[in-house]
Amino acid sequence: MKRGKRLVNKIYVTRKLPEMIREELQKHFEITEWNSEERPVPREVLLEKTKDVDGIFCMVTDQIDAEVINEARNLKVISNLAVGFNNIDVNLANEKDIIVTNTPDVLTDTTADLTFALLMATARKLIDASERLRKGDWKAWSPMQFTGKDISGSTLGVIGLGRIGEALVERAKGFDMKVIYHNRNRKIDKEAALDIEYRELEDLLMEVDFLVLLLPYSSEVYHFIGEKELSLMKKEAILINTARGGLVDEKALYQALNNKEIWAAGLDVFEEEPVAIDHPLLSLSNVTTLPHIGSASENTRLRMCQLVVDNLVNVLNGKEPITPIKY
Ligand code: GLV
Repeated sequence: MKRGKRLVNKIYVTRKLPEMIREELQKHFEITEWNSEERPVPREVLLEKTKDVDGIFCMVTDQIDAEVINEARNLKVISNLAVGFNNIDVNLANEKDIIVTNTPDVLTDTTADLTFALLMATARKLIDASERLRKGDWKAWSPMQFTGKDISGSTLGVIGLGRIGEALVERAKGFDMKVIYHNRNRKIDKEAALDIEYRELEDLLMEVDFLVLLLPYSSEVYHFIGEKELSLMKKEAILINTARGGLVDEKALYQALNNKEIWAAGLDVFEEEPVAIDHPLLSLSNVTTLPHIGSASENTRLRMCQLVVDNLVNVLNGKEPITPIKY
């Protein structure tokens, strides 16, 4: 079939949407929606349902790869409900003049809040302490029980100084932390403004009390933190990952945590999600885990959904997308 314009554009939505967002989308498009809030659309259904659509409303759990893109002969826009877009073959889409959009900005503060919350929860063992209280482990106030690490006055190393990285720095400064960063491109103009210092990767790893990963994920940064990088960190250091699981070699991380080569880790993301409940990392008491909830506040998720809708409406009405992904 030839790509062409029809009266009402068709959109495939890969997950059940909040009612108000579905109603908004239906004002503009003919929509077909995968009917589960909990379960990603099976691959064969995704392939079948996207064959004839003009746009896809998708999320991080959907692989919009060459097979999907090549089969979807009418496709003009792929709109991802996430700031990250490693689930989409953006190069191929761009080659085929298919516009890809994401949801930056609207989730920056919410994700920085969660990242800092996870840092605090890991440092002060909040979840472990709470679980132990419920199990009856709190027999008496005692000097060294449930003790963690100080946040105020410690050194934070941020890898990936994008929007969320900068918002995290602002939070850390409120806690009197020294902040150093590493980024693909040094951002000299930000250094004085944010009161931060640049470090080469190895220097940063050796200096930090807290290492926070906030860099965008692609195959080029697969296992960016592995055995060698972990071995450079202090024994008292804490690793926080709210970006993508594939940035960290989980086997090497397990060894480092189990052998007390680093002190703890806070993980919101995993190489495979949902993480299996018998995953070795989940057996360690020095790991604080969350189910990929960086942007999960009610307001922010609704704003993200609305931005996806607005991008679809713009593109399919011949206007500029609001937040296109460009390489
Ligand atoms: C979530 O992981 C996102 O990229 O927005």
